[in-house]
This record gives sequence, C-alpha cells and structure tokens, in this order.
Amino acid sequence: MKDSVNIAVIGTGYVGLVSGACFSEMGHRVICVDNDENKIKMLKKNRMPIYEEGLEELVKKNVKAGRLFFTTSIKEAMHYDGIRTEAVFIAVGTPPRDDGSADLSAVEKVTAEVAENMSDYTVIVEKSTVPVETCLWIEKTMRRYNKKNIPFDVCSNPEFLKEGVAINDFLKPDRVVVGVSSERAEKLMRRIYKPLSKYPLLVCDVKSAELIKHASNSFLSTKISFINAVANLCEKTGANVELVAKGMGLDKRIGPDFLKAGIGFGGFCFPKDLEAFYWLSKQKGYDFEMLKEVKRINEEQKMWVVKKVESELWNLNGKVVSILGLAFKPKTDDMRFAPSIDIINSLVSKGTKIKAYDPVAMDNAKKIFGNKIYFAKNPYDCVKDSDCVCLVTEWDEFKKIDFKKVFKMVKHPVMIDGRNLYNPKEMRDIGFTYISVGRP
Ligand SMILES: NC(=O)c1ccc[n+]([C@@H]2O[C@H](COP(=O)([O-])OP(=O)(O)OC[C@H]3O[C@@H](n4cnc5c(N)ncnc54)[C@H](O)[C@@H]3O)[C@@H](O)[C@H]2O)c1
Repeated sequence: MKDSVNIAVIGTGYVGLVSGACFSEMGHRVICVDNDENKIKMLKKNRMPIYEEGLEELVKKNVKAGRLFFTTSIKEAMHYDGIRTEAVFIAVGTPPRDDGSADLSAVEKVTAEVAENMSDYTVIVEKSTVPVETCLWIEKTMRRYNKKNIPFDVCSNPEFLKEGVAINDFLKPDRVVVGVSSERAEKLMRRIYKPLSKYPLLVCDVKSAELIKHASNSFLSTKISFINAVANLCEKTGANVELVAKGMGLDKRIGPDFLKAGIGFGGFCFPKDLEAFYWLSKQKGYDFEMLKEVKRINEEQKMWVVKKVESELWNLNGKVVSILGLAFKPKTDDMRFAPSIDIINSLVSKGTKIKAYDPVAMDNAKKIFGNKIYFAKNPYDCVKDSDCVCLVTEWDEFKKIDFKKVFKMVKHPVMIDGRNLYNPKEMRDIGFTYISVGRP
C-alpha cells in the first residue's frame, strides 16, 4: 500500500492485539510487542491469548499476508527485519493503584526503551487510557533516555473499542481522536488512519485528546448508574424501568444507549477510569464529587443480586446458588472487575454453595475462585438442584435455555435476572418466582 506505515504496538492485550491486527488489516506493517513470553509464543503459533470474536481469523490472515509480526523485544521491534519503525503505539496496561490513581509505570518503562532504541524520527502514540498530562511525562522520559537527540513527537490516540465487538469498533469507529503537537506528527497520524477516512477524525491538542477518553468513560458510567438509580425507584413505585428508559431514550438529547438497568458496570475500563478521573481532578484542585456518587451507586448495585437472593432464601448457609455468566459482559473472557466476583465472594462469605457457568470465561474465573466454587459443564449442570438461579452475564447462549426443563431440575424455582434478559410473564407462567431489575 502506497501510504503504508511501519508500526510497532507495545502491549499485546485486548487493545494492543486488536489494534495491531486492525492496523495490519488497514494495510500497515505491524510488529506487536509484549513482555509476556507466553503470549508471544502463542501468537507465533497462531493461537490467541484472549477471546475476541473474529480476532483469530484477522490475525491469521495478516500474518499470512506478511503484514503482522510478534516479538518480545522493543529493540527488535524498532528495526524489525532491518525496516525502521515510524510510529510506536503504547497499549500497555494502566491498572488502578490503591488510591484510585492510574499506575503508569509500564508506560514509563516502555517509553524509556523506545527512546534508547530509536534511530530516526519516530512518533510515540499513547493509546492506553491515561490521565491528562501523561504525554508530557512521556515526552520528558523520551528526552531523558534519548541520548542521541533523535527527533520525535508524542501523540495521544485514545482507544474507544468495546470488548466483544472490538474489531468492528476499531475498523468502523464512531470517531478517531488524535491529539498532536506538531504538523509532522499530524501528517503521519493522518496517513495511518487514511483507510478509515469515511469516519470522523478529530485532530486536537494532546491534552484535550487525553481528557476526551476519561470524560467519555466517566460519562458512560454516569449514564449506567443513573438508570440503575432509576431502576431502584421503579422497584419502590411499581414502575417499569424498561419503559422509563425507552421514553427517555426517544429524546434525541438523551439517546437510547447505555440506559439498560442491570447489576452495574465492571471490566478493565469504567471502574478504573472513573476512579482515575476523580483522582486526577482532585489533584488538579477540582473535586468532581459527582463521580464519587456514580461509583457508590455502582458498588451498591453490584450487591443487588445478593440482596434479592437473601430476600428469597432467608438463611443462606448451605443453600445452593447457580450463577449463569461470569465475564463482566457477554462475548468476552475478561473477568477483570467483573460484578460476578463481588457477588460470588459475598454469597460464599454467607455460606452459600456456588455453581457457576460461563461460555468462555471459565479459565480466567478458575484463576480467581480456585476450588471455592463448582464450575459447571453447561447451563443445565449449573442449575441442577439449585435453590436459586441468578443470571449475571447476558450471553446469547442463555437466551436459548429451556426453562421448562430447568424448572424440573432445580430444587426451588427461583430466578433472579440481573440483566433483564427474560420475559417476566413467560418465566412466571412456567412457575418461577422471577425477579428482575426495576421491572414489576
Ligand atoms: N480492554 C478494553 O476494552 C479497553 C478499551 C479501551 C482502552 N483500554 C485501555 O488500554 C490499555 C490496555 O488495556 P488492555 O485491556 O489491552 O490490557 P491488557 O492487560 O489486556 O494488555 C496489556 C498488555 O501489555 C503488556 N505489557 C505490560 N508491560 C509491558 C512492557 N513493559 N513491555 C511490553 N508489554 C507490556 C502486558 O503483558 C499485556 O499483554 C489500558 O490503559 C486500558 O484502560 C482498554
């Protein structure tokens, strides 16, 4: 491809691997780097270290086409096969510290290595979610380790993909945001995103780009907590949150998305980004108190399932509770900050025996729960002899469950639907005591 750019993506996780595969699909030459040797070994054997729909095919296709490579070495990635890398995307993890701030040590570490191994003008692109002004620190770090004074620029290019539909989000984005501080860097970034030219590209200053990401995730979290608070009010008044959300969402200023009541948000983004945005605001002298309330509502909402189980089963000691779904949302194996973790830990601490099933997140869940819970072979094995069934993640597979069959298998027909997946009338007609979020 005429405008093809030689790219390195550092961090080959949910964001880095999808970005790398998609950039190569867009015609660029991409080297994906990770310091996890096992991940790179797997990828070199065409095996995926994470579950993401369509990823395996995309990776295989682009590896075969000679556009996608893997290494554990940043040094090697900077001149892979003798060809100089022009743009380095940083996509390493930025996990939360105990105080809520983002741990940026991996960002600093890889920045230093890039600086030590550049040989010509390079654009360093921050793709991980980071607090505003991180790019300033990247620039300082680059200067410190760039002993040969090689020219470089630092850009911010936050990623908005959603796990489960990540490839579609990357290749058909609502928008691409690029924060730049020089014309030279802007030119290269425009070349990289040229294949996506039919989608909006917002080019702005670096700090605004950084802030857009945290502000977006905090706003979406706010929308979820808002509708969950409304659901609580619906439960107290007998109104139906689905109808309330529908009526609200028809207003173009509000929109229908992210107005689905449930058991709160989890995952590697919303909880930590909300915390980090609050922490950063406070550091800067602005107490963004609203975000604290968004978090509080979410923490409380995650315990909705536990409260409903208690209200139905009375004493929990020795009772059997089935958990359908463990991943923080459907179509991913990601268990990071999944509401299922808090729910299960709380139920176990009250003496409940847990049987759990998830279509793809079982391996990751086993690392968290060990032998504390029973991992079922399928949904029916999960619900067998149960005192109460709880739907925690709304996988498509669970829509197809035959509840007439389940009715005969459980000890007591109690269904607590934390995602409003099922039709209340149908469940009650079968004979279940059926409880959902904010619906009569
Ligand atoms: N997961 C999402 O849906 C999503 C969406 C948008 C943005 N983000 C942001 O993107 C960033 C990455 O998230 P993720 O979900 O891909 O995390 P991840 O944990 O899946 O991936 C991070 C990868 O970086 C690697 N890594 C860490 N230190 C390294 C080093 N020194 N050298 C090389 N590799 C190193 C890790 O081994 C890991 O494979 C985070 O800031 C996250 O907030 C995530």
